[in-house]
Amino acid sequence: MSGIVTFDGAPPPGTINLGIGQPSADLLPTDLIRQASDSFFGTAQPLELNYGVLPGDERFLESLAGYLGEGYGTPVSPASLFVTGGSSQALDFVSTVFSTCGDTVFVEEPSYFLAFQIFQDHGLNVVGVPTDVDGVRIDVLEALLTEHAPAFFYTIPSYHNPGGHCMSAERRGRLVELSLRHGFLIVADEVYQLLHYFDEPPPALGTMTEGDTVLSLGSFSKILAPAMRLGWIQTGPGLRKRLLENGFVNSGGSINHYSSHIVRHAIDLGLQQAHVKDLRRTYSGRVEVMQEILEQEFLDLATWHRPDGGYFFWLRFDDDMDTATYRERAEELRTGFQPGSLFSSDRRLGNFLRLSFAHYGGDEIREGVTRLRRVFE
Ligand SMILES: Cc1ncc(COP(=O)(O)O)c(C=O)c1O
Repeated sequence: MSGIVTFDGAPPPGTINLGIGQPSADLLPTDLIRQASDSFFGTAQPLELNYGVLPGDERFLESLAGYLGEGYGTPVSPASLFVTGGSSQALDFVSTVFSTCGDTVFVEEPSYFLAFQIFQDHGLNVVGVPTDVDGVRIDVLEALLTEHAPAFFYTIPSYHNPGGHCMSAERRGRLVELSLRHGFLIVADEVYQLLHYFDEPPPALGTMTEGDTVLSLGSFSKILAPAMRLGWIQTGPGLRKRLLENGFVNSGGSINHYSSHIVRHAIDLGLQQAHVKDLRRTYSGRVEVMQEILEQEFLDLATWHRPDGGYFFWLRFDDDMDTATYRERAEELRTGFQPGSLFSSDRRLGNFLRLSFAHYGGDEIREGVTRLRRVFE
């Protein structure tokens, strides 16, 4: 065994791949996890290592509700929460519970490319709805609803992956109205909601669950550590009941019960809150660096909006450009990006590319973007 810890898509030594949307090693808090684990084991009872109750450990849901309530600026009820193994598991689970093979689902155009694969796993027919800087185009969505009856609409409302934008408060309200009128669910992937660095985003869709049409997915991957494999669904009582009636949950009990103990202690000790403050400070600095170096290197080639949160810059090139064709050249110059077509449900958006500032510090971001400029010469 080599002893080297790695991950899928890890870049070769010396390469600065700005396509990687994962936290850098210095932002993965081993000390925090050790303190929270010590606190848990200091008082652990054997039954805490048994199966957990179906929606999630009551004490964890209390702590999580308090934490989210503070972060969202609106009280959150523990009874609206259901523990998951992170947003990916939640997407798979929601597809199982709320759709049937052959159903249509709407996604934003662009959207998180790995969600497409999850929907394909379930035999779902994916239809893209265009977006602009204020989020999904509600007028186009409304027109598409005359042709399709989607099981759900998958959206990333805040600090979109890859778009970086936030859906406006007005569009969030209109989307909920439309879902009630047309009887489709909203699956809101709110993994970046708490990662705001400048202005705060509009209220989470998790705060709009009264009508039993919204399932808000959250995760500790972006605000603590992906390895925890822990997240939640915030929803209304009717939809939550359906999640609880699932065979997988009935057989296995609370999903990732063990991680939920550790994270409960992290929240109760205030470690989680302090960590997110640190993340905001670090990421806001990286956004400024990326913005500055992009302005130096890319103003004549592309346009973009500086994101106020999340992980991503989304660059638009001339319409006839296909950024995917530059990937090999980027590898040769030891840099990298994600091509726009990856994020399109029907392989459009070739004239865009996504850069992430999550995986590298300021100096590497500067160097990576400078190399990237040479790729497009
Ligand atoms: C929009 C979105 N959803 C889900 C995920 C994956 O979340 P998790 O680690 O909680 O499964 C990511 C990670 O990149 C993401 O950007």
